[in-house]
Amino acid sequence: MSQEKQLPLKENIIELACPSHGGLIREMADKYGIPASEMLELSASLNPLGSPFDHPLGGLDLDSLLEHAMERFGQYPDNRYLEFRKAAARFLDNGLSVENIVPGNGSCEIIRLVAEAIVDQGDIVLIPHPTFAEYEQQCNVAGADVRYIGQDDIFDLSDDVLGGAKILFVCNPNNPTGKLHKREDILSLAKKCVSNNTLLFVDEAFIELADDPSQTITDTVIDNDHLFILRSLTKDFAIPGVRLGFGVASKTIANALNIARLSWNLGSIPEVTWKVVATVRILWHHARPLKMTVIILLSASQ
Ligand SMILES: Cc1ncc(COP(=O)(O)O)c(C=O)c1O
Repeated sequence: MSQEKQLPLKENIIELACPSHGGLIREMADKYGIPASEMLELSASLNPLGSPFDHPLGGLDLDSLLEHAMERFGQYPDNRYLEFRKAAARFLDNGLSVENIVPGNGSCEIIRLVAEAIVDQGDIVLIPHPTFAEYEQQCNVAGADVRYIGQDDIFDLSDDVLGGAKILFVCNPNNPTGKLHKREDILSLAKKCVSNNTLLFVDEAFIELADDPSQTITDTVIDNDHLFILRSLTKDFAIPGVRLGFGVASKTIANALNIARLSWNLGSIPEVTWKVVATVRILWHHARPLKMTVIILLSASQ
């Protein structure tokens, strides 16, 4: 009896396309036959001042950092990642503790984690367009029904629309437009999300490099189980190859996600790197006068 062979994959995975975003320097080098070392990467928006390791004020010693990381190569990481989470809470410096932090192998991994933990097959998620492509990608992996809304419609969503969605994604400041929403506006949206039982996912990957980083709302997760904030360290510290990010949530949500996340998701190099770079906050305060440069770079990538 002949039977048509079917792929052992979920339909939404068979239909999945690659997300479109920057950071493709090696792929472009292969495509155009130009060595990556001779190309200028403008598609990944990073702190234009470079990494703390390039900066004389930082006084960071990369060799001793790597040596310290290598000492841990022979053991599994401590899956609680207490050092990492403590450094993240200290970095935010707004009354949060280790219990509010979810470590990520880059912040992209956290987008996947949240989608997996919240979205069931066919659930609606709302994504303002244009924005970072990974929200759609990771929600598609989870089998979501992705609905795009206009960037200008974020604050005017009806209770019907909001209440019909599991997650509303807001990127603040937005990639690729660079638009930074005011804290008070995001907080009133957060209230609306609570009353509609919708998770508000605020991506603050670029907020430290924005015009006014005090528009962050990380401090308000404490008593809100319908709010999740994403932070990426790779932008601030210009270290995309290390893969460092974290999520910020209420203790209840952060605890659930810490249990659900992949075990040992950070290796010893990112773990130790973060412990060191978290001490050099001062470096990117120098970035403020360069905000125009940052906004231009932001616009170049999606
Ligand atoms: C808005 C935004 N969020 C998150 C990320 C993911 O960054 P990473 O996974 O390097 O932390 C990016 C990367 O470009 C981004 O633009």
